[in-house]
Amino acid sequence: MQTTLKLQDKEFVPYISEKEITEKIKLLAEQLKKDYEGKRPLFIAILNGSFMFAAALFKELEIEAEISFIKLASYKGTRSTGHVITAIGLDADVTNRHVIILEDIIDTGKTLYTFLPQLYNQHPASLKVAVLLDKPEPRKFDVPVDYVCFTIPNKFVLGFGLDFDGFGRNTKEIFQLKEE
Ligand code: XMP
Ligand code: MG
Repeated sequence: MQTTLKLQDKEFVPYISEKEITEKIKLLAEQLKKDYEGKRPLFIAILNGSFMFAAALFKELEIEAEISFIKLASYKGTRSTGHVITAIGLDADVTNRHVIILEDIIDTGKTLYTFLPQLYNQHPASLKVAVLLDKPEPRKFDVPVDYVCFTIPNKFVLGFGLDFDGFGRNTKEIFQLKEE
């Protein structure tokens, strides 16, 4: 277990332990098994931040399922730029598929608000959103969040795939920006 983590001039303190993360992801996998058994769902993970969440969840998932990836980005440093770009597009056909989006964190909601209509246009059989972290306070765009591992206050977090300007993703636990 790491204690504090320093990146540039910022200090981060431990917030959610590896054990808590593992337990919540197992529970989510069990729930998804109940909801999607026999439906052969297609998971779409949003890179970069969700890569660890997606991997951890997919390993626990005991049903027949596919996974694909899309790369969207809206963040610079510790703030959302409000501008979402698609860096790598979707290669899977979602028509008539049961689709579950995997996202590391929902903040303003802009990323999903931009991306979800693109998927609805392709007529999936169903479309749900599963997130590791939900930060409801800064929400500006109304998006559905169907499965949530942790609801957190409006503080910047990193680790377990989440970054600060590209760094800090490589931890087993989640850290929170230290109060000044
Ligand atoms: P929006 O505002 O589009 O944000 O819902 C979603 C994306 O913003 C990033 N994000 C964070 N990244 N710590 C991070 O490392 C945070 O506290 C944080 N809040 C938002 C993230 O990439 C997410 O996909
Ligand atoms: Mg992200």
